[in-house]
Amino acid sequence: MDLAGKRILLIIGGGIAAYKSLDLIRRLRERGAQVRPVMTRAAQEFITPLAVGALSSGHVYTDLFSREDEQDVGHIRLARDCDLVLVAPATADRMAKMAHGLADDLAGAVLLATGRSVLLAPAMNPKMWQAAATLRNVETLKGDGIAFVGPMAGEMAESNEAGTGRMAEPLQIVDAVIDLLGGGPMPLQGRRAIVTSGPTHEPIDPVRYIANRSSGKQGHAIAAALAKLGADVTLVSGPVTIPEPDGVTTVHVETASEMLAAVEAHLPADIAVMVAAVADWRVATSAGQKIKKQPGEAPPPLMLAENPDILKTVGHHVQRPKLVIGFAAETQDVEDNGRAKLARKGADMIVANDVSPQTGVMGGDRNRVHIISAEGIDIWPELSKTDVAQRLAAWIVARFSS
Ligand code: CTP
Repeated sequence: MDLAGKRILLIIGGGIAAYKSLDLIRRLRERGAQVRPVMTRAAQEFITPLAVGALSSGHVYTDLFSREDEQDVGHIRLARDCDLVLVAPATADRMAKMAHGLADDLAGAVLLATGRSVLLAPAMNPKMWQAAATLRNVETLKGDGIAFVGPMAGEMAESNEAGTGRMAEPLQIVDAVIDLLGGGPMPLQGRRAIVTSGPTHEPIDPVRYIANRSSGKQGHAIAAALAKLGADVTLVSGPVTIPEPDGVTTVHVETASEMLAAVEAHLPADIAVMVAAVADWRVATSAGQKIKKQPGEAPPPLMLAENPDILKTVGHHVQRPKLVIGFAAETQDVEDNGRAKLARKGADMIVANDVSPQTGVMGGDRNRVHIISAEGIDIWPELSKTDVAQRLAAWIVARFSS
């Protein structure tokens, strides 16, 4: 994991963007970082130390004058026992205090005492961000070697104003942390991965085919996420209209049989993630020429034959990858059907999703998945397909490092 063993002191400031810091803690920990939170008094008006403590699995530091906290680690050790101090959200007030070296609360004392890199994720109203005093303070802080991520342009949470002042998204902050800490070796370096994605097209004749609504967005995002962590990724894609992801070798196929052949040709591999919505049936004897309407004759019957099950073949292969992950597209009984598929297909994990039309998953940008493995079931919140891909990649890294 790219932040494995890194210790981050997270100072949560008092702004509405503090709610995003809860997700930020999860994202940092997914990458292997240890997060020690400090909350300002104002931050506690927006989110509770209980929530922060639950997500960081540790003590939440709030008070410079707490005898207990000072005996435990003390603000000087808090400031030094870390690899990076991250302030998110960093308010205009916090930046003004920092620029002048004020240390009248625990966050201020830690920021003044630390010798570590400091990264700020500012969040404030656009007018406050553009105020002459703030601009002066930002210049001073940059001159002191302090790094910034954001703020971003967009809508403000508290008003219907737009402008620059939104806190960077948690994943953008994580990327900035990784850049500052130098990353370390890529966690999936040297691992080979095969990912299938998109639908398959099963020809009826040279101009017609059987297809489904898969867009390939989820599979492509997973291929990209694994490549970003250093894996050598082959993406076997059915016909899609989205671009090939960067850093991945893409093999284009049309039918299930072609997809199986391409997958088998790329074994052995360490990881297989079978995301494609493979057609279960093909037309038994697809016509060599376009089937013509015959006046007065009944429509031609379509005889179907079962397609090979690619996931099941890989899950029971002599060259079975160490980690085999499948998806389950369901419209009912998501967990029961997912569990049955885990066993039947010889997979280590099934990512089950409800693809009923009202969910908008097929072809959409978001997904709500149930992770089914021998360890049980974990239900993830609704996320973008990119976020699902990154979480899955982090799970794969954790599997290989345990
Ligand atoms: N799959 C596959 N080859 C097939 C059918 C499915 O590799 N011929 C894979 C999919 O890529 C997915 C998993 O199997 O990872 C489950 O696919 P899904 O369509 O949900 O299940 P099916 O096996 O087709 O079962 P059913 O149609 O009964 O739900």
